[in-house]
Amino acid sequence: MLRYQTQKLAYLYFVGALVLFLAQVLFGLIIGLVYVLPNFLSVVLPFNIARMIHINALLVWLLLGFFGATYYLIPEEVERDIHSPLIAKLQFWLFFGAAAVAVVGYLFRIHEGREFLEQPIYVKIAIAVAVLMFLYNVSMTVLHGRKTAVASVLLLGLWGAGVFFFFAFYEPANLVLDKIYWWWVVHIWVEGVWELIMAAILAYLLIKVTGVDREVIEKWLYVIVALALFSGLLGTGHHYYWIGTPGYWRWIGSIFGALEILPFFAMVVWAFYLLYQGGRRHENKAAVLWSIGCPLMAFFGAGVWGFMHTLSPINYYTHGTQVTAAHGHLAFFGAYAMVNFAIITYAMPSLRGLMPFNQVLNMWSFWLMTSGMAFMTFTLTFAGVVQTHMQRVVGGYSYMDVQDQIAVFFWMRLGAGVVFAVGAALFVYAVLGPAREQLLARGVQPEPEPQPQPAE
Ligand code: HEM
Ligand code: HEM
Ligand SMILES: [Fe+2]
Repeated sequence: MLRYQTQKLAYLYFVGALVLFLAQVLFGLIIGLVYVLPNFLSVVLPFNIARMIHINALLVWLLLGFFGATYYLIPEEVERDIHSPLIAKLQFWLFFGAAAVAVVGYLFRIHEGREFLEQPIYVKIAIAVAVLMFLYNVSMTVLHGRKTAVASVLLLGLWGAGVFFFFAFYEPANLVLDKIYWWWVVHIWVEGVWELIMAAILAYLLIKVTGVDREVIEKWLYVIVALALFSGLLGTGHHYYWIGTPGYWRWIGSIFGALEILPFFAMVVWAFYLLYQGGRRHENKAAVLWSIGCPLMAFFGAGVWGFMHTLSPINYYTHGTQVTAAHGHLAFFGAYAMVNFAIITYAMPSLRGLMPFNQVLNMWSFWLMTSGMAFMTFTLTFAGVVQTHMQRVVGGYSYMDVQDQIAVFFWMRLGAGVVFAVGAALFVYAVLGPAREQLLARGVQPEPEPQPQPAE
C-alpha cells in the first residue's frame, strides 16, 4: 500500500516517538503527584529532575514525530524515494541514543541549567549532528524531486528548527542576553518555525482526507506561513517584558503577541472550510478527527490561552504562574502532540500494510486525551487566577501559603492527568496493537474468492 518503499522509515520514528510519549506522560503523573504529596520520591527522584524528564521527553518525541512525518510524506510529495535510508536509520539511533543518555544522566543529576535545554553539551552536539544528517537527507530528496508547496514549507520549517537550535549553544554570561537568546530557541520554535511544520503536515493530511484541490489548500498554506512568521518573530517580545530589556519591548511584545492568534485562527477556518468543501469522506475517520481537532485545540491552547497573558499589563501579574502552565499544556498538546497523532493515525495502516483499523479505540483515545487535557487546562487556569490574585493583585500572601490555598486544583489536575494517561495508553494500543477491526471498520467485506469461469 505504500507508494515508495522508503516511506517505511517513518515506522521506526513513530514507534520511538510513542515510547517517549508514554514516558513523558508517566513523568507528568509523577510530578503531578509531587504537587499534592510533596515528599513522594523526593530523595530518589526530586521534582526538578522528574520535571526535566517530562519536558525533555516531550520535545524529543515531538521531533521524532516530525522526522517520521517527513520521511512518510516527502516521498509522496516529491515523487521520489528518500535520498539515503541508511542515513535515516543512523540518524534515528543517534538521536534516540542521545535522548536516552540525557535521561540517564538526569537521573544521576548530570544536567545544565536552562529550562528545556538542560542536556549536557555532548548530548546537544549529538542532537545537532543528527539534525544535520536529517536536513541533508531530506534536502537532497526534495532538490531532486517534484516541487510542491507542502514540501517547501515543511523543509523551510525544518531548516528553521535546525538553525535556531544553534542558539542553544550560545550561553552569554550576561543574564539578560542569556534569556534573550534562550527564547530564540524556545519561543521561535513553537511560535515560528514549528508552526510551518505543523501547517505543512496538516496541508498534506487535508489534501488526503478532504480530496479538495491541492491548489486551493496550498494558497491557504502560504497565507498561514506569512501570518506565522510576521507575528511570531517579533512576538518573541512578549518574553522580554521583565528580563532587563528596553521598555519598547512591552509595545512590540503586546502588539505582535496579540497578532500571533491569526495563524492559529486561519488554520481552524482552513481545516473546517476544507472539510465542508470536500464532499469525500475519507475511510480513516480517526485521522480526519485528529486533523480537525488539532487546529481547533491549537487555536484554544496557543491562540486564546496565549492571548490571555500576552499583553504586558496583564503579563505583569500572571508571569510565571499556573496561568503559564495551563497555556503551555494546552498549546503543546493541541498544536504539536495532536498533529503528530493525526499523521501517525493516518500513516500507520499503510506502514503496517493493513486497512484503517481500531478506529473506534483511536477515536476514544482522542476524546479521553482531549477532554483530559481541556480539564487540566481549566483547573490550572483557576489555580493561576487565584494565585495571581492572592500573590500579586491583592498581595501579601507568600508563595507557599498561596500554593496551599489552591491545592484542590492540583488534585483535580492529577485526576485529569489520570484520564489523559488512559487515553494515551489507548492511543498507543490502537495504532500499534493487534488490528482487529481492520475490515469491519468500514463495513467492508473481504473480497470474494474468484470463481472459476465456466468454459464457454
Ligand atoms: C503552539 C504554540 C505555543 C506553544 C507550544 C506555547 C508554549 C508555551 C510555554 C511552554 C510557555 C512557558 C515557557 C516557560 O516560561 O517555561 C509559554 C509562555 C508564553 N506564551 Fe506560549 N506557546 C504557544 C503559543 C503562544 C501564542 C500564540 C501566544 C500569544 C498569543 C503565547 C503567549 C505566551 C506568553 C505571553 C508566555 C509567557 C508567560 C509568562 O510570562 O509566564 N504563546 N508558551
Ligand atoms: C498526565 C498528564 C500530565 C501531567 C499530570 C502533567 C503535569 C505537569 C507538571 C506538574 C508540570 C510542572 C509544572 C511546574 O513546574 O509547576 C508540567 C510541566 C509541563 N508539562 Fe505536563 N503534565 C502532563 C502531560 C503533559 C502533556 C501531554 C504535555 C504536552 C503535550 C505537557 C507539557 C508540559 C509542559 C510544556 C510543561 C512546562 C510548562 C511550563 O513551564 O509552564 N504535559 N506538567
Ligand atoms: Fe512565546
